[in-house]
Amino acid sequence: MKRLNITNIQDLKNKRPIVCLTSYTASFAKTIESYIDILLVGDSLGTVIYGMKNTQNVTLELMKKHGRAVIKSTQRPFTIIDMPFQSFRNKKDAYNNAKQLLAFTSCQSIKIEAGQRDINIIEYLAKKKINVISHIGVRPQSFRDFSKIKILGRNSYERKRLINLALKLQDAGSSLIFLECIVEDVAKEISSIIDIPTIGIGSGVNCDGQVLVINDLLGFNSDFSRPKFVKTYLNMPSQIKKAVKKFSQEVRMKKFPSKKYSYK
Ligand code: KIV
Repeated sequence: MKRLNITNIQDLKNKRPIVCLTSYTASFAKTIESYIDILLVGDSLGTVIYGMKNTQNVTLELMKKHGRAVIKSTQRPFTIIDMPFQSFRNKKDAYNNAKQLLAFTSCQSIKIEAGQRDINIIEYLAKKKINVISHIGVRPQSFRDFSKIKILGRNSYERKRLINLALKLQDAGSSLIFLECIVEDVAKEISSIIDIPTIGIGSGVNCDGQVLVINDLLGFNSDFSRPKFVKTYLNMPSQIKKAVKKFSQEVRMKKFPSKKYSYK
């Protein structure tokens, strides 16, 4: 099976919504790949997999291991990997780190949480033939404490700033733009004025595609820390608890392993 490429993804704009989910491990990536267009090896793995308080301690080495696992276990989705915090402080670091990430993992594109100051870095990477994706709006790498995150685009200054930034990042060579926690009318405007697709998270239905963190969708986020935009499609923790409770009871009662699960 041929892996989708960036042109396949860009061609979906104005045709049908693009489906994207994060994935960090071989088993999850393999299970979900046939239902999605894009897999994102997000640096959210810091909080989701490693229990960190934020994503600032995620390293290039961690990203490399998870990126490779996801690519090796899948065949079809376009696959993006996040550049971790402070791995793109200047052009030289950004280029060397992006090259390393892509060469080691074989992911197809890197994603950068980009502000005004990162436009020249995105441009440099794109000129060097690195497929680069920008992430604007709320940029989780800027927060030590996620409870301080606020929705963006509610006033005319922010609205203009976000629209301008999206246009500049498109001109700099971004191949997609992720929009995180931007009010829906601003996300709609950005999506209609740029030619490349937008992928939204907490940014309303008018983005060209949608992404969620897989663990949120599966119900792993506790109720009080779950943002409004997260829809839980399954209560997986309760399913896991049921199975493990049964296993525990069977082990204690010496019901497991029965003859069926033992060797003669
Ligand atoms: O790291 C991540 O999972 C992300 C998504 C929230 C878009 O960047």
